[in-house]
Amino acid sequence: MGHTLGFVRQFIANPHSVGAIAPSSRMLARALCEPYQASQPPASILEVGAGTGAVTKYIGSVLRPGDTLDICEISPAFTELLRRNVLTTPAFSSPVAAGRVRLLEGPVQDVVGDRKYHFIISGLPLTIFTVEQVSRILDSLRLSLHPGGVFSYFEYIGLRKLSGALMTGRERRRAKEVSKFLSTNIAAYQFRRRTVLVNLPPAYARHWRFDDGATAA
Ligand SMILES: C[S@@+](CC[C@H](N)C(=O)[O-])C[C@H]1O[C@@H](n2cnc3c(N)ncnc32)[C@H](O)[C@@H]1O
Repeated sequence: MGHTLGFVRQFIANPHSVGAIAPSSRMLARALCEPYQASQPPASILEVGAGTGAVTKYIGSVLRPGDTLDICEISPAFTELLRRNVLTTPAFSSPVAAGRVRLLEGPVQDVVGDRKYHFIISGLPLTIFTVEQVSRILDSLRLSLHPGGVFSYFEYIGLRKLSGALMTGRERRRAKEVSKFLSTNIAAYQFRRRTVLVNLPPAYARHWRFDDGATAA
């Protein structure tokens, strides 16, 4: 509950980067982690847009010995919360002590680059960005994946269509452009989509591979 309140506060303060009114459910976190959990260790994971840590906590509960986790978040208030309330929980004590967890503070497109990952799990609100921002972010994530690596993210069901219908003027053009760009990428790269109804609002977990390289991890 405290996390939900913290989330809503940040949403009010930064609606243009938070992009959600509630943290993801455990069911959605599990759907996002499906390819990782089906892989063989050791694996490297990047979580992007961790917020209050709803998905981070799930990853912590399934992280295996030898796996590494980088957590990226742009909001200083959220990184502080993650450091204080999430990375101090028992699930993280051994990976944190072993130096297998890093917190990367800042916009993902500026802070990644020194490491490659088998799995990127994203909570980024892509639909509220401009097409140039989405393109730049996806380029930096694609370049951060090992061959055969998987990019997983979620999207609220029907939100893109609804935004197109409700918005007007410049915002509407932006939303339509981003939606078209995402649809093209989904057609090119998505290999699995899971529907998660137990989430506010219900969402799709989407899994992409940018290449047909060897299976990750
Ligand atoms: C919709 S919230 C998701 C939070 C959490 N992962 C969840 O599923 O409940 C999106 C998060 O992405 C963060 N964010 C937005 N733009 C970002 C960027 N360029 N780099 C890193 N984080 C970003 C926001 O601060 C926010 O915490």
